[in-house]
Parts: sequence; structure tokens; C-alpha cells
Amino acid sequence: MKKIGILGTGSCLPERIIPNSYFEKILDTTDEWIVTRTGIQTRRMIQPGQGLSDLATRASERALEMAGIPPEKLDVIIVGTSTADMLSPSSACIVQHRLGAKRAVAFDINAACPGFIYSLAVAQKFMQDGSYDHALVVGGEIISNRIDFKDRATCVLFGDGAGAVVLGHPSQEEGEILNIDIESDGDLWSLIHVPGGGSRIPLSQKMLEKGLHYVKMQGNEVFKYAVRTMADSAIKAMKAAGVTSDEIDWFIPIRPIHVLWTWWPTV
Ligand SMILES: CC(C)(COP(=O)(O)OP(=O)(O)OC[C@H]1O[C@@H](n2cnc3c(N)ncnc32)[C@H](O)[C@@H]1OP(=O)(O)O)[C@@H](O)C(=O)NCCC(=O)NCCS
Repeated sequence: MKKIGILGTGSCLPERIIPNSYFEKILDTTDEWIVTRTGIQTRRMIQPGQGLSDLATRASERALEMAGIPPEKLDVIIVGTSTADMLSPSSACIVQHRLGAKRAVAFDINAACPGFIYSLAVAQKFMQDGSYDHALVVGGEIISNRIDFKDRATCVLFGDGAGAVVLGHPSQEEGEILNIDIESDGDLWSLIHVPGGGSRIPLSQKMLEKGLHYVKMQGNEVFKYAVRTMADSAIKAMKAAGVTSDEIDWFIPIRPIHVLWTWWPTV
């Protein structure tokens, strides 16, 4: 199987910064509560009219620049998101159009928070057999218009942004992705969900009035599950890669539920 490595990374955040003091003015909450429990002091939010592909395209341009890969060389573009620009087409197709990545296959993966890791895993499989050489994988969300600013348990936690990586076949000396562990537990689907706007409860005035287009979350249950499974997932990924914990230089918990482990030579 061919080696797969990250050749370039890029990110893009909206300019608008929302500090905790904003929520103190509109809700029964405090900066102290938010910081103590989450560490969050500020979050970024888009301006009305912006869409996910605005952030995703900029992040991708930065990743391509770092990788030194022109967009025409991309074979596949995968955007992991649950907040695409529109219901159809995929945001990946819009990113493809904006980049001019003419020959790429482009599609979204909706796996909510761990969407980036799922997308990375899919891109890795496409590339391992050598059929694709260059992949662009983006993770991004515009969650600020899916949260209820009257629900203090969710609105203080989320922000908007996008990150991108360009994958290729690295040289002997360069680092590679050793293993990715992804898991799903569909039994827990209701712990975080957006009930309205899909096929079961389509868009309607009544649905909007009930606030069914907003994220519903049992945060403390998510937290307990995430803490438990994060360690298990990390151990599995290390075992599969033949790496021990004392060989890990960086541990980056990108999302609470799913974890990516990469190992890069110490520099
Ligand atoms: C934020 C978090 C740490 C809070 O956990 P917690 O301390 O167990 O909080 P709970 O949700 O049980 O709420 C405890 C109390 O704080 C209150 N509370 C919730 N949000 C609040 C806020 N922003 N300000 C003040 N009080 C708040 C609740 O109303 C509740 O009050 P009550 O006891 O009077 O009913 C936790 O929900 C969390 O991290 N969840 C993870 C969510 C996540 O990662 N989601 C993304 C998944 S991909």
C-alpha cells in the first residue's frame, strides 16, 4: 500500500469575534462559567450572507500553497460538514469550482463533529491503492445559524471555521499517516441532533416556530461518552500503528468523540 502524508495545511476563520461578554448580556451566564467548564474565551462567527464554501475555499488555497500543489492536480476533494452552503449540490463541488480543480471528484461527508476525520479516512482509502495521488480534505462548519441564542447550554460552545489538508504520497523522510480510528454508535443519535429541515420534519413555518432547526444537545452525556471513548480510540489507533504512547510528540484532541493520531519524526 502506498504511503499517505499531509503535504500542506490551511485554515480560515471569519473575522467577527464573539467574546463571552456578549452572552453575559443576552443570557443568564457568566464568563467564569464558560471558561471554567470549556476553556472558551471567544469564538468566531460569520457575517450574514457568508457560506461554508467561503471559508473552505480560503483554507484550501492556503493548504495547496503550502503543499506546492496546483488545484488541477487534485484527484479528489472531500468536505466534512453538516452545514453545507445549500442542500444540494455539495459544498465540495462549490470548492472545486472556485479552485478550478477541474479533474477532481468532489463530495461532502456529513458526520457532524468528526466529519474531518471521516473524510480523511475515506481519502486515505482512495489513495492507498494508488488510484488517486492528491486529495484535498476539508473540515468546516457554519454552526452559528444552527444554534439557538436562547439556549445557554449550546450557544456558548460553538463557532464557525474551516481547516484543510492536502494529502499526497510523501518521500521516505517525510511523515505519514499511520492509522486512523473512526467509530460510530448510532444508538446515541439523539444526544446531538438537528430535528427539523430534513425529510422527516421538512421546512415549514411551524417547524421554525418550534425551533426545530436548532442543535439539540445533551451536553453532559456527550461529555461523558467523549471522555470514555477518546482514550479507547487513541489506544486502538496506536496499537494498529505499532506505536507506543511515549513515542507520541503531540496529542491533539480535535473533536471530543473521535480522534486522529499521526506520528511525525521529532525535529
Ligand atoms: C459544557 C459542559 C462542560 C457542561 O457540562 P455540565 O457542567 O455537566 O453542565 P450541564 O449541561 O449538566 O448543566 C449544569 C447546569 O449548568 C447550567 N448551564 C448550562 N449552560 C450554562 C451556561 N452557558 N451558563 C450558565 N449555566 C449553564 C445548566 O442549566 C445546568 O443548570 P441546572 O443544574 O440548574 O439544571 C458539557 O455540556 C460539555 O462539554 N459537553 C460537550 C459538548 C460537546 O462537546 N459537543 C460537541 C460534540 S461534537
